[in-house]
Amino acid sequence: MPFPATRPRRLRATPALRTLVAETSLRKADLIYPLFIDARLRQPAEIAAMPGQYRWPIDRVAGEVVRVREAGIAAILLFGLPDWKDATGSSSWLDDGVVQQAIATIKGASPETIVITDVCLCEYTEHGHCGVLDGERVHNDATLELLARQALSHARAGADIVAPSDMMDGRVGAIRAALDGADYADTPILSYAAKYSSAFYGPFRDAADSAPAFGDRRSYQMDPRNAREALREVAEDLAEGADMVMVKPALAYLDVIRRVRERVEVPLVAYNVSGEYSMVKAAAAAGMLDEIATVREILLGVKRAGADAIITYHAPDVARWMDEGRWPD
Ligand code: PBG
Repeated sequence: MPFPATRPRRLRATPALRTLVAETSLRKADLIYPLFIDARLRQPAEIAAMPGQYRWPIDRVAGEVVRVREAGIAAILLFGLPDWKDATGSSSWLDDGVVQQAIATIKGASPETIVITDVCLCEYTEHGHCGVLDGERVHNDATLELLARQALSHARAGADIVAPSDMMDGRVGAIRAALDGADYADTPILSYAAKYSSAFYGPFRDAADSAPAFGDRRSYQMDPRNAREALREVAEDLAEGADMVMVKPALAYLDVIRRVRERVEVPLVAYNVSGEYSMVKAAAAAGMLDEIATVREILLGVKRAGADAIITYHAPDVARWMDEGRWPD
């Protein structure tokens, strides 16, 4: 037989053939757009470390949600910056808290948008940790009830899905019990199941004003050296009642996404985090990378690894690039 016997290039000859045999696709419907709402603002304020991303005043965020929905982005993830903080993060579970008010205006303007809320204390505590302190230690069990209160108040305000990101042990079960006990048995939980302690959250902590005042998050977020442990975290969250699980960040953890995908049947979400976004924006602004092609390759890589949906700050840009015919097949 003449060499080469097989010619994979045969199926790469034209754009139509390449699309016919493509194994992975990316749709607008796969994307979830994170938004920051700041109770202290009257005008949107661009986030210095995240070009193109803004903190939104409560009464302006609905306009942005409508804009992105019209571009085809149907799901959003909300983060709140309150006008005051305390030791226990009590501004996070008020009926008129920043996220609760934002949900009301968003649902009024765009009822079909899927509103997911990040459930965590770090934006609401003076010390910036994701739970309450006992000395300098984050107290796991004392935090659970507070997270449950916050999740319940989000559900009451109209959140479609609550997403705990604190990494306390047992929080999914505590939140599930609180929701079920208050007639929110149908509100799903998307758990940040495998959330790593990561340098890639740097720009977010500026955006959300949530950097820890002392120490770091390594006593609750996962160690980047571990992957088997992610499978345990996922299994435990599912046992406690999580409906969907998340791996975060995405790019440095594609192996974890793949391993979780092979292990569980529930929907798997990956978070393409702030630092991953800022790297692309900085390199593109410096003329070092082609932004559209780079974003496409990153998001396809995350889907190929096994994610069903991706939380990404690029979402509205991707939708626009698709509409403008600038998104290559
Ligand atoms: C809150 C939270 C963080 C992110 C999502 N939820 C920050 C952190 O854990 O330090 C990071 C998101 C991003 O970097 O885009 N706990």
